[in-house]
Amino acid sequence: MSNPRFVAVSNRLPVKLTRAPDGALISEPGAGGLVSALAPVLRNRGGLWVGWPGLERDDELDCTLAEAGRKAGYILKPVDLEPGDADLFYNGFSNQVIWPLFHDLSSLCRFSPVVWEAYRRANRSFAEVVAGCCSGVDFIWVHDYHLMGVAEELRRLGVTTPVGFFLHIPFPPLDMFLRLPWRAQVLRSLLAYDLVGFQTLRDRRNFLYCLKRLMPDVKTRGAGSVLNVSHEGGEVRIGSFPIGIDHKAIDARARKPDIKEGAERLRESLGARLMILGVDRLDYTKGIPEKLEAYRRALEKYPELREETVLVQIAVPSRQEAQGYRELATQIEQLVCEINEQFARPGWEPIRYIARNHDLVELLQHYRAADMALVTPIKDGMNLVAKEYCAAQVDEHGVLILSEFAGASSQMHRWALTVNPHDQDGIADAIHNAITMTAGDRRNRMRHLRTGVRTYDIYHWVDGFLRAATQKTLTDYPAWEDYVPAIECEPTLG
Ligand code: UDP
Ligand code: G6P
Repeated sequence: MSNPRFVAVSNRLPVKLTRAPDGALISEPGAGGLVSALAPVLRNRGGLWVGWPGLERDDELDCTLAEAGRKAGYILKPVDLEPGDADLFYNGFSNQVIWPLFHDLSSLCRFSPVVWEAYRRANRSFAEVVAGCCSGVDFIWVHDYHLMGVAEELRRLGVTTPVGFFLHIPFPPLDMFLRLPWRAQVLRSLLAYDLVGFQTLRDRRNFLYCLKRLMPDVKTRGAGSVLNVSHEGGEVRIGSFPIGIDHKAIDARARKPDIKEGAERLRESLGARLMILGVDRLDYTKGIPEKLEAYRRALEKYPELREETVLVQIAVPSRQEAQGYRELATQIEQLVCEINEQFARPGWEPIRYIARNHDLVELLQHYRAADMALVTPIKDGMNLVAKEYCAAQVDEHGVLILSEFAGASSQMHRWALTVNPHDQDGIADAIHNAITMTAGDRRNRMRHLRTGVRTYDIYHWVDGFLRAATQKTLTDYPAWEDYVPAIECEPTLG
């Protein structure tokens, strides 16, 4: 089974459908790293992508998805959710329980049995659709925290096809996970998969600690990046598979004249000042207010940065129906105004804030133009923006400043400037350091980063995951350095 025909399953499809007030169907590209990562994989292999279209189904919606699938080169299969469940499952359990908890922000969780039950029903609905279209399929690949229970439901429906799961977000440490009222059920449902993949060794280690604490009869074998876990007579493989990007496509596109010219126009529009770039979904895990405060600190601490730098912050509106996201948008807008008022001089404003989705061309123009990328999430599964920035840096002049709590730092820490996203002084110093660094040092760092991103790209990730799923003897997934920082390792006692 070297090239299995597979079904990909995720909550989000590559198109997000909504209705305008007049009833017209609006189709937008799906946001976020999961779609960015899976779209090239499906384009490359063909196959079927099962997901929630964002709306109740009707003929018009089915036609729109069929057309989008035809253009993309794979089939898009929509899942219907019971009335009311979409909100409770997506906004409720997925985004107001698992999302904050798994990003170590348990104070934002809104635990309630109602949302948990909706989550289970929704996972059942996904499994029913998958079960109906998996004949002749060698592998079912389920993605992300919305769908941890799909394998369990598939087994209940009698499906025997191997099923893998990849968690795109972090897995929390034991003391965080213990707060989840349904902790045992969630662990048990993950053990129903044949292979469970995490972004980093840190996430896998957290998961194994939780297993050992909550399911003491579980046995672990192996020592490489892919382990075997046995539980109640069954065997599950558990691995760490840091996700990559389509480096070749981004690098090639970034070299095109329209990107180069767009980047030049962008730099001119900043008065040829140094450009610091932030690109984030408008999400509290991305640490945007903390980043703005750190830039304020940099302008205070290093007055020479005033009038010489501009922070261009792209923020993509996200999850506007979920509690807290709109307030975050307002908070950020106010902070931008405040910092701009504090420092602005005739002809210069320190922050250019753009709160809208950008297409690939616009993003690449920004990546190529920027002298540094400021990627400072509070916590992140991987963070693809960090990798895309390097892939698009074809002139190799930029510096990556990266949060040590982004999964990407487990691979990129040696050549990026790593920072604690809560440490305003540390970030201010890193900005200053990036600006004063020699051109040779910048180029050397960026070259190493680009080599890693190119070698360990999205196709390496897919092949590694599928090989671990199909070759039971495979114990190591060759990864671009995936390490747990020494500071996080347990002290040796006694
Ligand atoms: N992105 C985009 N348009 C934008 C900003 C971001 O398409 O205006 C994409 C970006 O290219 C990246 C993804 O959104 O692939 C963000 O992924 P990341 O892993 O950084 O964070 P996530 O949003 O998944 O938490
Ligand atoms: C993160 C998650 C994805 C999710 C994306 C966008 O990348 O890991 O599963 O699709 O954010 O969020 P949304 O709620 O719009 O799907």
